[in-house]
Amino acid sequence: MANKISIIGAGMTGSTTAHWLAEREIADIVLVDIVDGMPQGKALDMTEAMPVIGKDVSILGTSDYADTKDSDIVVITAGLPRKPGMSREDLLVKNANIVASVAKETYKYSPDAVYIILTNPLDTMTYMTMKTTGLPPNRVIGQAGILDSARMRAFIAMETGVSVQNINCYVLGGHGDSMVPLRRHSNIAGVPLEKYIEADKLDAIVQRTRKGGGEIVGLLKTGSAFYAPSAAIAQMAEAILKDRHLIVPCAAYLQGEYGVDGIFFGVPVMLGKNGIEKIIEYDLNDEEMAALKKSADAVHASVETLKTLVEI
Ligand code: APR
Repeated sequence: MANKISIIGAGMTGSTTAHWLAEREIADIVLVDIVDGMPQGKALDMTEAMPVIGKDVSILGTSDYADTKDSDIVVITAGLPRKPGMSREDLLVKNANIVASVAKETYKYSPDAVYIILTNPLDTMTYMTMKTTGLPPNRVIGQAGILDSARMRAFIAMETGVSVQNINCYVLGGHGDSMVPLRRHSNIAGVPLEKYIEADKLDAIVQRTRKGGGEIVGLLKTGSAFYAPSAAIAQMAEAILKDRHLIVPCAAYLQGEYGVDGIFFGVPVMLGKNGIEKIIEYDLNDEEMAALKKSADAVHASVETLKTLVEI
């Protein structure tokens, strides 16, 4: 196939990303992991599924970064997942070292790729990737906003019984408990959410969205969410490869937009062949801007902590 996507970290999110991507038949896939035999085994198993679903996709499992050469997209999921009681920030240093090393390795072989980061703490790991590789900001994107927005959409569909396709939600800000679900910009087929859902129920949905990752961790007990995060990556990858100019919330490097500077932060972006083609600026009221500022302060603090602990 003409396009190639390498996924670093063949654990739950990495291998499920490969699965969603193979279903879409948009690129050949390379799965990389440090666990001996695991990426090879998963890739072979998935390869053996291709005749059943009728897709011609090459899926290679490997521990050798040379196999990732000339990837169009590199997805980084390598790291440790969150365990119950562990915040995303607890993962900071361990995952920073892993992400820095895999970003450097892949960059050697695919300097022109678009990099999509999933490893948590997301906003900080995306920053780490840009700093360690020297990639331009438009080619480094964090996956978070599609997932957070999808969680809110799913909860609204569950409450109203309306098709998920009619439900539009926009969750901005950092990928943490201070994320900002924008009610005013969210709607059901163009109708404000308040017309469908009572205020207290909507409040509960917003809170559940903010804690959506933790809810899954609490249920799974041994890992974190993987179906929805990997589905979001597949949507981003397809938008980039097909140069769709799809507008979705993602973590982008901000340089003054939304009054935020020097961090990766969840905002609506236009995805195309160059990665982030454009950052979209919504008109926000004072309350929304204040919530975003609070969230940005949390991401800034995480980046500052990281700088004191590891060399960037
Ligand atoms: N190089 C390559 N792979 C690595 C490395 C490394 N240096 N270090 C760890 N890995 C691999 C692990 O071997 C494991 O297979 O990363 C994989 C991570 O997979 P899981 O443990 O299943 O975790 P997952 O649920 O996929 O989450 C990965 O994404 O959503 C975030 O918070 C989550 O940070 C976590 C990441």
